[in-house]
Amino acid sequence: MNRIDSIVELLKGADTVLDIGTDHGLVLIEAIQKAYIKKGIGSDINQAPLNETQKHLTELGLTDKITLIQSDGFENIKAAYDVVVITGMGYKMMKQILSKPHQTPNYYVFSPHHELEELRAYLSNHGYEIIDEELVYEKKPYVLLKVIKRFKQLTQEEIVLGPILKTKKAAIPYYESKLNQKLSYVNHLDIVERKRVEKEINFYKDAIRNLSQA
Ligand SMILES: C[S@@+](CC[C@H](N)C(=O)[O-])C[C@H]1O[C@@H](n2cnc3c(N)ncnc32)[C@H](O)[C@@H]1O
Repeated sequence: MNRIDSIVELLKGADTVLDIGTDHGLVLIEAIQKAYIKKGIGSDINQAPLNETQKHLTELGLTDKITLIQSDGFENIKAAYDVVVITGMGYKMMKQILSKPHQTPNYYVFSPHHELEELRAYLSNHGYEIIDEELVYEKKPYVLLKVIKRFKQLTQEEIVLGPILKTKKAAIPYYESKLNQKLSYVNHLDIVERKRVEKEINFYKDAIRNLSQA
């Protein structure tokens, strides 16, 4: 399954999904076509992709099911929704969006294009709980997070490995590649950074050993 298909699978049974940074709108289009959701709200800070997506929706006859709104994060979103999707952007942008007041959905689906660990740390410190994690490969690995608004402090090990991913055998090749990356540069770091990365290396080694024996 590709990244978009895997995001869509996490929306099964939702009523109205708000997709922030919708761009091509493919998540909402596929979720509606599969009848997984009743309605979609696609928002984007840029009008140009929304114009293209609107044309596509018209061709597909989906304009009554998916509404497009130009908005910086939650700013112009007035309608109710029960699930929020934010995928395909960096952690810093996601953090900016989440830090603004908004209706709390039943759950969120997040997948940052980079800085996954920073996102986990942010969620842990701001009253969010990661309730599922899924690994998807599409040219490179992506981790999808299913998250609810409930306080759950993560340990440093959970921030690095993922609180749920660390229980999944499928994570072994992903952890091996992260481990090899870190081993390739750890000796070139200054002492403070080296200590931090060595700790992460040990998290990966322990996780690979534990999952291999499970
Ligand atoms: C790379 S696309 C990701 C598209 C899709 N969500 C995905 O996962 O494939 C990122 C989109 O986020 C939009 N974006 C960036 N910052 C945003 C913000 N603050 N609010 C809403 N959309 C934003 C960009 O305009 C762009 O269309």
